[in-house]
Amino acid sequence: MLFRGVKYMAEQGIDQFLDIGSGLPTMDNTHSVAQRIDPAAKVVYVDNDPIVLAHARAILQTDERTRVITADMREPEVILNHPDVEGFLDLSRPVGLLLVAVVHHLADAEDPNGLVDAYKARLAPGSYMQLTHFCSCAPEMRELEAVLLQMLGTGRARDMPEIVRFFDGLDLIEPGVVHVPEWRPEEPVRHPLDLGGICVAGGVGRKS
Ligand SMILES: C[S@@+](CC[C@H](N)C(=O)[O-])C[C@H]1O[C@@H](n2cnc3c(N)ncnc32)[C@H](O)[C@@H]1O
Repeated sequence: MLFRGVKYMAEQGIDQFLDIGSGLPTMDNTHSVAQRIDPAAKVVYVDNDPIVLAHARAILQTDERTRVITADMREPEVILNHPDVEGFLDLSRPVGLLLVAVVHHLADAEDPNGLVDAYKARLAPGSYMQLTHFCSCAPEMRELEAVLLQMLGTGRARDMPEIVRFFDGLDLIEPGVVHVPEWRPEEPVRHPLDLGGICVAGGVGRKS
């Protein structure tokens, strides 16, 4: 869904993206999807894993429209005030905020809602947020949760209303928060969804 969300936002005119918990920016990632639609689109990748920065420096060194920083999602002020964010993106204009498969790393005690709200508060009107999250809504997921928790280290899967809550204050773009294969699919979706399709839900919201 990452690519479909980025493509959607770029098609709405979004030309700057803040991708938090980006993972390794491979050759086909947020910047390449966005820049296929708008070659001038800028992307800042943020991850707390320093290997991401090292890897990104190797593959993105010629791309002047992309920045990569090592920072922790739990520190929104550090990220939003970082010179490679504030000085590179124009936060007074709409931004595409990506929180894709990262918020489930946060435990409830780390206040994931408060953190997501802090990012949304800094978005200019017309901005979008794409968020996806491990979803505990399917019975199959309950069986998998222990395995997932081991993979996540910290955090947890959340149910659909909890995932929808992250979009409070934004207008949800159709079809709303759904299992990721069902978000504006570009090919027919096969039902029943497989476990990979059931276990992650997400959507895109717009700040008006
Ligand atoms: C499952 S990967 C998702 C990568 C990418 N967004 C995608 O969808 O392909 C989660 C990423 O979040 C990063 N991450 C986990 N906790 C984080 C935190 N507190 N701050 C920043 N990044 C974090 C991990 O290092 C990892 O690269």
